[in-house]
Amino acid sequence: MSARKIFVTNALPYANGDIHLGHLVGYVQADIWVRYQRMRGNMVHYVCADDTHGAPIMLRAEKEGITPEQLIARAHASHSRDFADFLVEFDNYHSTHSDENRAYAEDIYGKLKAAGFIETRSIEQFYDPVKLMFLPDRFIKGECPKCGAKDQYGDNCEVCGAAYAPTELKNPYSAVSGAKPELRNSEHYFFRLSDPKAVAFLREWTQGVNADGSPRMPPEASNKMREWIGSEGENKLSDWDISRDAPYFGFEIPDAPGKYFYVWLDAPIGYLASFRNYADRVGGVEVTDYTDPDKAAALGTEMVHFIGKDILYFHALFWPAMLKFAGYRTPTFLNVNGFLTVDGAKMSKSRGTFITARSYLDLGLNPEWLRYYFAAKLNANIEDLDLSLDDFVAKVNSDLVGKFVNIASRCAGFIAKRFDGKLGESDVTALDAFSAESLDAVSKAYNDRDYSVALREVMRLADAANVYVNDEKPWELAKDPAQSERLHRVCSTALNQFRALAIMLKPVLPGLAAQVESFLCVPAFAWTDLFRPLPAGHVIDAYKHLMTRIERKQIDALIDANKESLEAPVAAAAPAKQEAKAVAKPEKAAEASAEDAASPISIDDFMKVDLRVAKIVAAEHVEGAAKLLRLQLDIGEEKPRQVFAGIKSAYDPATLVGRLTVMVANLAPRKMKFGMSEGMVLAAADEAGEVPGIFLMSPDVGAEPGMRVR
Ligand code: 2FM
Ligand code: ZN
Repeated sequence: MSARKIFVTNALPYANGDIHLGHLVGYVQADIWVRYQRMRGNMVHYVCADDTHGAPIMLRAEKEGITPEQLIARAHASHSRDFADFLVEFDNYHSTHSDENRAYAEDIYGKLKAAGFIETRSIEQFYDPVKLMFLPDRFIKGECPKCGAKDQYGDNCEVCGAAYAPTELKNPYSAVSGAKPELRNSEHYFFRLSDPKAVAFLREWTQGVNADGSPRMPPEASNKMREWIGSEGENKLSDWDISRDAPYFGFEIPDAPGKYFYVWLDAPIGYLASFRNYADRVGGVEVTDYTDPDKAAALGTEMVHFIGKDILYFHALFWPAMLKFAGYRTPTFLNVNGFLTVDGAKMSKSRGTFITARSYLDLGLNPEWLRYYFAAKLNANIEDLDLSLDDFVAKVNSDLVGKFVNIASRCAGFIAKRFDGKLGESDVTALDAFSAESLDAVSKAYNDRDYSVALREVMRLADAANVYVNDEKPWELAKDPAQSERLHRVCSTALNQFRALAIMLKPVLPGLAAQVESFLCVPAFAWTDLFRPLPAGHVIDAYKHLMTRIERKQIDALIDANKESLEAPVAAAAPAKQEAKAVAKPEKAAEASAEDAASPISIDDFMKVDLRVAKIVAAEHVEGAAKLLRLQLDIGEEKPRQVFAGIKSAYDPATLVGRLTVMVANLAPRKMKFGMSEGMVLAAADEAGEVPGIFLMSPDVGAEPGMRVR
């Protein structure tokens, strides 16, 4: 069979947030697949980029006092580093804010327009009269029109689950400025997804198969699409609003001054842009072989996207329709992963389970531990993956250290000491466990992205190798000079088994495999090496320890490092998610609340906290502190309390003086770099980071400094 030619992408992470372990599931999954395909001799171009446009990025930059360009440059550097350190090895990591992306976006838009798929319509939308901008749905809050719950987002209610238009909210307010928004008309550009041609195409595309009979997405995904599109004769698809008004950080629409492409229009186009940028950089890669429908069909090139289930809607409907009607090839396959839970619950900042990639690395945890654990639990279905922390420790220690590394550590020393590092003959029958059938099963499972199945089989083979070593007892043989030849054979056999396991683990553990390659003095492993054991006479290097065990206390430190303390509300501002929520299905919006309810406490617990009305009598910047203001708080005591509060990004100190707020008065005083902090002020911040800002608590009119709050 000739080599496959595959263009692989991962979803583009937003430029205004850190990479966390939840992201890594999809990146590790794709990276393993790419590495496996390459080991099989297939040609893969694997790219990604930062998703840089949209109102949240613009507002975040503004809040930080930097330009959006500066913000996205910073994200690009930190995301690239995080991926590289987790051994996610893209051929190219580009940006949607790039010349290539502008060119593709304009080309696709122009072709859709020429084909009659673009239409303009005036729509009524909320406008922030203070901030002078139209508000994305997620930046409008108010009371739920169904259940009356306060402070609900403009697209759906997190209390009763109702979905609605932002204009239906009662008492709406702008989450950017707090102002009451006004309804204003504006001309918007729409992609006519409800056009019968688009509907017919999507119905076939989402339910059909490729020319070779392979599916285009997992069955659960096509079933979901059937629900969303509706059955024959019924059309549930609405036109897609692809424009946003200035001010907006993005690409201006060519023939429409003041109108910008909505971030989700140019985000997936970023896949092509990154590919083009890569091809131009390296030379010798013909992008159109992968993007032109005729060339792609003739050459059999593939385009595979790895995405999370929350963005299926965009990738299974908007994206293929855009490509199709702009004359591009459509994707060959969408691999869809579920969300990550930690110890069975949604990742949570207060519990410390919203773990950033960087904190994991900074604490010295081995990225391959996580890659292995994810792989051991991943399959081809759209299932959530649970990172059970105790199981993580147990599994990595037992499989990787206890089973795999152990084989080499028990046998390599004898080869070095007794046989000058030279391997002897191997026991052919012992290698029989690694039958062609078993290797094929591993191979098929990798190709089908059923990594849990692949690794179960690899560990079954590791068990067999350990049984062999336990039965042959090289440490006993070593005591008897007459058994020297037997010792040589047993250790050589075990090391060949170890080598075969390393080859099969290489897509998951490329770093460890590289150490094994160097220890065994062999070139980079290819899959076919599985069928050729190392011969007698091959010289290997001295064994160096390959992997340490995880200690539970390292995990505890990781959780601690990610726990957000109430004392630093500024830090609680999470990376803002994008207005994507506005068009996503309810399951996505539900995901927006990054925080579960805290576990219940008794009234006695609550009463332990002495909350007092406090008057801010002085407020000032603290030299050398990026986030803090120094406040003097009058709570009716002899002299005001000094409190440092992480609210600098949200408040000008001058505007705080004279204002009432609420403080925790019985918090143990803390010595900080800048002086003693004798309490804490209360402020709200959106855990999910949807709404930028920090909101200091205020009592109602009439409250006096020192009054107890209960
Ligand atoms: O949901 C997200 O994180 C988006 N930034 C994913 C974009 S994927 C692609 F379309 F660019
Ligand atoms: Zn409601």
